[in-house]
Amino acid sequence: MWVFGYGSLIWKVDFPYQQKFAGYIEGYCRRFWQGSTDHRGFPEKPGRVVTLIESPKEIVWGVAYQIANDNVESVLDHLDFREKNGYSKAVVAFHPSDSSVSPFNCLVYMANPQNPEYLGPAPLNEMALQIRESVGPSGANAEYLLQLATAIKTLFPDVRDDHLFKLEEAVKNLNTTD
Ligand code: SIN
Repeated sequence: MWVFGYGSLIWKVDFPYQQKFAGYIEGYCRRFWQGSTDHRGFPEKPGRVVTLIESPKEIVWGVAYQIANDNVESVLDHLDFREKNGYSKAVVAFHPSDSSVSPFNCLVYMANPQNPEYLGPAPLNEMALQIRESVGPSGANAEYLLQLATAIKTLFPDVRDDHLFKLEEAVKNLNTTD
């Protein structure tokens, strides 16, 4: 089994895997439009985490992890619990950056707009402020954003992810104007 990570699964890998590939999926964009009431916020003060939004001409860069047959059940149990705050599973075609490896199918956790924690879009500064001020059982919401932005820049130095990088800049600016 393969699992595609495009958010915290890129930089917080707390499950066993056999090998991983960097690459992308087509037809989606990555957005901080999902509310987090169990990791990076609380029900009375949700944070913002990423989900995938259908967008026919766009691609999302991330990492695919191969899970050994013997571990599939326990890893799925673990990820179903970790991603329980509005995420459901889907299957997507993954394209490895290494073009000598053919595309293959991956399981992915995405939070669709019908889930109760979904927040949707908001002005950049509003989202930045919410992220800067939210904290939950897994830590600060800003840490989630900054870790993700750093991981994407490190893995894919040529990739521009405007939504992610503009939010990163906005949160950093808020921190320096305190
Ligand atoms: C993912 O990383 O693939 C899912 C969203 C998240 O946990 O941040």
